[in-house]
Amino acid sequence: MTHETHFGGSQDVEPEFARAVIAGLSASHKHLPCRYFYDAVGSELFEDITRVPEYYPTRTEAALLQESAAAIAARTQPGTVMVEFGSGSSLKTEILLAAMKDLAAYVPIDVSGDALREANNRLASRFPKLKVLPVVGDFAAELPLSGDLARAPRLGFFPGSTIGNLVPKDAVDLLAQFARQLDGGRLVVGVDLRKDLSVLTPAYNDAAGVTANFNLNLLTRINRELGADFDRRGFRHEAVWNEQEGRIEMHLVSRKRQDVHLLDHDFSFDEGERIHTENSYKYTLEGFRKVAEAAGWTVTSVWTDARDWFSLQELSRA
Ligand code: TRP
Repeated sequence: MTHETHFGGSQDVEPEFARAVIAGLSASHKHLPCRYFYDAVGSELFEDITRVPEYYPTRTEAALLQESAAAIAARTQPGTVMVEFGSGSSLKTEILLAAMKDLAAYVPIDVSGDALREANNRLASRFPKLKVLPVVGDFAAELPLSGDLARAPRLGFFPGSTIGNLVPKDAVDLLAQFARQLDGGRLVVGVDLRKDLSVLTPAYNDAAGVTANFNLNLLTRINRELGADFDRRGFRHEAVWNEQEGRIEMHLVSRKRQDVHLLDHDFSFDEGERIHTENSYKYTLEGFRKVAEAAGWTVTSVWTDARDWFSLQELSRA
């Protein structure tokens, strides 16, 4: 085992997190796992990103949902259970929930218990008759469905172009996993599309620096939870378009030569050395259809905005 870790007597270190960080920082091209962006502070910073003027995906997708919610609802049987993977604040979901008449239950899944609690309170007052069954966990979490609910038809909801944060082969695996969790049901997924770089790059490089803060918060979290000594000011946020891969890449760039200590490991950084923290793939409609089909889905409906910036796609079992 290359990354056998001794936790140095610190009992409350999360071993999965520690292992992933150590493995990523030991690689020749350093990287960090993006799933750890979303601690309580990170989840709030992400909500702030969705409101900066440069970040078009959230408001474009919300407008698309306004236009398509009635159609999605019309294609949904009464008594359906709606499952949302990575629900965060559930703000966009409200648009869909308002159009859905007779859901048996709404199951929001998120790694942030705080985000789920807040969403649950809001939903309880706006939709008092809706049964909400929140799950704190990652996308692979077990669904809390038993009895009649276990037999109800399922509709998955996966907005925000989170699917674009996975490399295509992992996206195929995740969509196949959703197919199993949804047990023959449909999936509505938000997929961001290729567009001019003058729109794309600023969306990940906002002038107010919210995205930079979000990216750097990963270092703060590693310091707090794993006892590392990253100097946040020693790194800067960078977002670059990778034409060959068709993705925006987020990096943290070391401003100087420096060493960072974490548990019993030392990591050295050259000036200008980068930690790759996130990818955000931008698909063509054909490109995404191939990914969906490789996972055993058929694309049965596509909604796009007038500028073709973003798509909502309904997938059904092939
Ligand atoms: N799913 C979002 C996206 O790709 C996530 C995101 C937005 C993000 N901005 C980010 C992830 C900055 C990491 C860093 O648009």
